[in-house]
Amino acid sequence: MPRSTSPNPVTTEPEESIEHRIRTLLDQMTLGEKIGQLNQLQGTDGPASDELIREVRAGRVGSLLNQVDVSTLDELQRIAVEESRLGIPLLVGRDVIHGFRTILPIPLGQAATWDPDLVEAGARMAAREATSHGIRWTFAPMVDIGRDPRWGRVAECLGEDPHLASELAVAMVRGFQGRELGAPDSMAACAKHFAGYGASEAGRDYNTTNIPERELRSVHLPPFRAAVDAGVCTLMASFSDLDGIPASANRFLMTTILREEWGFDGFVVSDWESIPQLCVHGLCEDGREAALAAALAGIDMDMVGRLYEQHLSTLVADGALDEAQIDLMVSRVLRVKFRLGLFEQPYTDPSRRLATPPASHRDLAYQAAVRSAVLLKNEGELLPLAPDRFRKVAVLGPLAAEATEQLGTWIFDADPSLSVTPLEAIRELVEGEAGDGSRGEVRHVRVLETGRSRSQSEFGDAVDAARWADVALLFLGEESVLSGEAHCRADISLPGAQEALLRAVRGTGTPVVLVVLAGRPLALESVLDQVGALIMAWHPGTMAGPAIADLLFGHASPSGRLPMTLPRVTGQIPIYYAHRNTGRPPTPDSFVHIDDLPRGASQLSTGLTSYHLDTHYTPLFPFGFGLTYTSFRYRDLAVRPTETTPDGSVRVSAVVENTGTRPGIEVVQLYVRDPVASVTRPVRELKGFRRVALEPGESRAVDFELSAHSLAFPGRDMNQVVEPGRFDVWVGGSAEASLGGSFTIVDRA
Ligand code: BGC
Repeated sequence: MPRSTSPNPVTTEPEESIEHRIRTLLDQMTLGEKIGQLNQLQGTDGPASDELIREVRAGRVGSLLNQVDVSTLDELQRIAVEESRLGIPLLVGRDVIHGFRTILPIPLGQAATWDPDLVEAGARMAAREATSHGIRWTFAPMVDIGRDPRWGRVAECLGEDPHLASELAVAMVRGFQGRELGAPDSMAACAKHFAGYGASEAGRDYNTTNIPERELRSVHLPPFRAAVDAGVCTLMASFSDLDGIPASANRFLMTTILREEWGFDGFVVSDWESIPQLCVHGLCEDGREAALAAALAGIDMDMVGRLYEQHLSTLVADGALDEAQIDLMVSRVLRVKFRLGLFEQPYTDPSRRLATPPASHRDLAYQAAVRSAVLLKNEGELLPLAPDRFRKVAVLGPLAAEATEQLGTWIFDADPSLSVTPLEAIRELVEGEAGDGSRGEVRHVRVLETGRSRSQSEFGDAVDAARWADVALLFLGEESVLSGEAHCRADISLPGAQEALLRAVRGTGTPVVLVVLAGRPLALESVLDQVGALIMAWHPGTMAGPAIADLLFGHASPSGRLPMTLPRVTGQIPIYYAHRNTGRPPTPDSFVHIDDLPRGASQLSTGLTSYHLDTHYTPLFPFGFGLTYTSFRYRDLAVRPTETTPDGSVRVSAVVENTGTRPGIEVVQLYVRDPVASVTRPVRELKGFRRVALEPGESRAVDFELSAHSLAFPGRDMNQVVEPGRFDVWVGGSAEASLGGSFTIVDRA
């Protein structure tokens, strides 16, 4: 194929033609060349090794990941296309998780926006930047359901709820893959980690999961299904062991569900060396067995494990593996390459190289950072800070001026020089251009070397600054390295001496605003009463500073909502809103706190309901919660009709009114409960949400179409069923919404 640097003709090739090309190509391929397509190798950040060049030339490599030097990448691609026998282009993958050069909030922060359009636009932006550097495949979105904030990878997930995660998974797939997969700025997405990784025991990464099939199907699989239905090109297998069968050898997941039930026709890549790890799990004796187990299960591509390369051909020669299975695996890989238009335009287009991302990307990162921040407390309307009342501002803490730490996990390609820190942005806002103190003044004390530091040696300076100031803004939480893959915590309270710092500053009597930057929900009960206002900002990305400064001073208003429940203390985990009721749910009357137990209390003196003695049974803040600078009231819930059939639907509507004095954005949420069913169902489940902007005094009727089909669950026989009976519904501003109604599903006449 001649080398061409002309713009990629967008491939809109009909599927029949692609299938024909796959068959034609397969007919020409040797077994070795086929296996090459299933082999993904690690690239470099510099020149390619001679060995890699030889392997590419021999057609023994189908995909590269982490090949970041774009000229090396183009050269390797040229070798694949011009010097390998069949000229099959390489597919180049990379973890483009929440941005490439310009960094958006971590995915969990993006989930807090409850804004699929924004999330889609963010993924589109990341795709534009990454494809300009030759990357046509991202290992995102991660759609594992996160219900254990000890797990460091909740930073990468889209929250605890299958509905929210599904909507946002679809948005990300659309954003990465674009309208036309063959367009040069589109990239294949990868829904990962299939499946159940979020249930890793004790929130410890890579740990075992034990998920009953009903739970798997109702909680963990829906976002993957949504991504598949949205046309995601690839899936990645999870590292985890699911009930004794690691995902990388799990035929039930990879074939029964994914292929036979869902009809997925893209390919599945293993996780990093997860095929060789089948031996470490104790499932396979050696590499040969592991390669066979993975191939038979339905893992199409071996990420870095090199076991397909080493063993598939002898497995075929020995008759252990049918060559037809290899053909099937290869055809899935080729299908994605054809759909991406890689055969037509394998090279990066130098004219598209985005050395410095355009300003519009920073604008988007700013919007996303603003919308991801969740206001959790605002006593006496301390926020927004009125500039004339708060002229002297103390900015304290180890995360106020950290251009890299504000970016979060998975930011290998980020450009921290683009970052604007909270300190910079607050200075600019408070002091203005003159910076001579005439308008306002900022004093900054870092106080702690890192968020983990225990030394209190600079507490005195922090206290002095707070005494001097009209308001103390504390930037506390977690550095990036405390979350993400393999970065789990057993205690999710503020690390190091941060809580002590907060108390010391609070002691000055100066109003305190706490801004938490973190990769997970933290357990903040013990500090809540120390602060006047609290913003959960997650790791907000490149534009953390302007977003937070504007929120603090009222140039923007908070509209984020929690995508995960915030526990009071770590020991409450797992705590999530869509739990089942139990036979003994806790009630205010049955709850007795340990401090209220009298001496000699009898065994039966507590309420005999489901709670911990030493903390309240509710979370600190529920899923869906978030304050604004105004207030909202809900009324007039209506369900029409009040009766429907299993294939019908109802409309649920309610009026939401801005009862405050400022404009604001409410995230109107619809929850349902199936109170009696053949298997017990969650006490509430999110079924719809909408962001609604309202001026003071304005009200709006918001209505949701709720199809009976969306109320289906895996019944006793594991088939999806919609059971007739009463359903309760609520519309409101969090999982604790109180305005409710009901309707009935009746059998078809
Ligand atoms: C992670 C994946 C990631 C892959 C490639 C693995 O360790 O689990 O999420 O995509 O590495 O970097």
